[in-house]
Amino acid sequence: MEIHQPKDPGFLNDFEKKHMPFVADPLQGKDGQSLTVTVQLGEIPHPTMPEHYIQWLALYDGEREVTKINIKPGGAPAATLTFTPVSGMQPRLLAQCSIHGVWERHLNLEIQ
Ligand SMILES: [Fe+2]
Repeated sequence: MEIHQPKDPGFLNDFEKKHMPFVADPLQGKDGQSLTVTVQLGEIPHPTMPEHYIQWLALYDGEREVTKINIKPGGAPAATLTFTPVSGMQPRLLAQCSIHGVWERHLNLEIQ
């Protein structure tokens, strides 16, 4: 799976803002307690049309898939993930556009 990342993580262009999943960073959670986060499908909302939409959103811990949801076109450009944060987790969000491939955002996790 080829994963796209921004050319300059400190200064995303509009195309990158549309494709990188966007959520509050750092994520804040409690060790071992379920956490639900709403992820925006793009800091600039990505299209949600049948011919061009975000097909799935996944959360990885390092190389391990934690959860993945399939997304249908036509809805709001957002999706909700539920997972259980643990100390030492290295969260990455991945989103697949039907045209422009998989895009990734690394997150920081704060365990309270
Ligand atoms: Fe796209």
